[in-house]
Amino acid sequence: MAIVTVMVVGAGQMGAGIAQVAAQAGLKVYLRDVEQRFVDKGLAGIAKNLGRDVEKGRKTAAEVEAIQGRITGTLSLAPAAECDLVIEAIVENLAIKLALFRELDGLCPAHTILASNTSSLPITQLASATGRPERFIGMHFMNPVPVMKLVEIIRGIATSDETYAAVNGLAEQMGKTTAVVNDFPGFISNRVLMPMLNEAMFCFYEGIAGVAEIDTVMKLGMNHPMGPLTLADFIGLDTCLSIMNVLYDGFKDPRYRPCPLLVQMVQAGYLGKKTGRGFYTYNPDGSATPMVRH
Ligand code: CAA
Repeated sequence: MAIVTVMVVGAGQMGAGIAQVAAQAGLKVYLRDVEQRFVDKGLAGIAKNLGRDVEKGRKTAAEVEAIQGRITGTLSLAPAAECDLVIEAIVENLAIKLALFRELDGLCPAHTILASNTSSLPITQLASATGRPERFIGMHFMNPVPVMKLVEIIRGIATSDETYAAVNGLAEQMGKTTAVVNDFPGFISNRVLMPMLNEAMFCFYEGIAGVAEIDTVMKLGMNHPMGPLTLADFIGLDTCLSIMNVLYDGFKDPRYRPCPLLVQMVQAGYLGKKTGRGFYTYNPDGSATPMVRH
């Protein structure tokens, strides 16, 4: 099945990144959010990334103009009726996602594939809100989307081979490498990544080492591009906590219990880079000061 027109629902960091790589792959893209300022912010982020590509000589101004011309910002879900694929990248809230997919199922023609970029909510459960569970799939992009090579593709219990083949082919057309996984808590990416970040938080919580020391061990010792506490701040501590809770609830296994300090920081509104404070405080001059516990 050829995928020519897509809608990305949610113009945040992930949604805008997905819209960018889809337009770069030649697709016609609708980028939808609920308020104009969110749409504008998403489009501005795309313009900034593409502007850097021109500066660095990776794309011509004409190519960038064509890519941007393929993206239409919208506040309406109605254009989903002309899409072959809808990729959802909204807030990680099960009830809100279920309501959105119910609405999309009513709007879209029978052939349209519905996909979720969820980092940990069950694909099979999301699919159950629709009358098309065989044309429902997880497309889990990594942040920052334009840079990261992976798309984790999650097959729900009912996802058909045709849907998988179409979405896998599309991700490759976007220049990504795919890995297919079955629909169990945390998939592979967050089942492996999140307990590592949580363990780094426990090391700090238990006073074994400072924030900067923990990050240095993993950066220089394991060659990770970012230390685990920097990465947790970058992902968002609320997201980290919600993924740990999905693992904990899904497996009923105490090894996935979230670090109490993570819970406390989320309660305090210290959500990481996006709020200016997490395991580091992000200073106006661009520097970051590691957290110290008293
Ligand atoms: N958007 C677009 N491009 C970006 C970007 C962003 N947010 N951040 C960095 N880049 C680009 C830079 O512009 C730069 O491109 P150029 O070639 O034009 O210079 C390139 O990426 C490298 O950036 P920097 O030189 O500034 O810094 P870096 O070498 O440290 O790379 C990084 C930045 C790619 C983010 C790197 O630190 C990294 O790989 N970090 C780990 C990221 C990671 O693990 N992501 C997965 C998170 S988990 C997830 O997404 C899933 C989930 O479910 C939670």
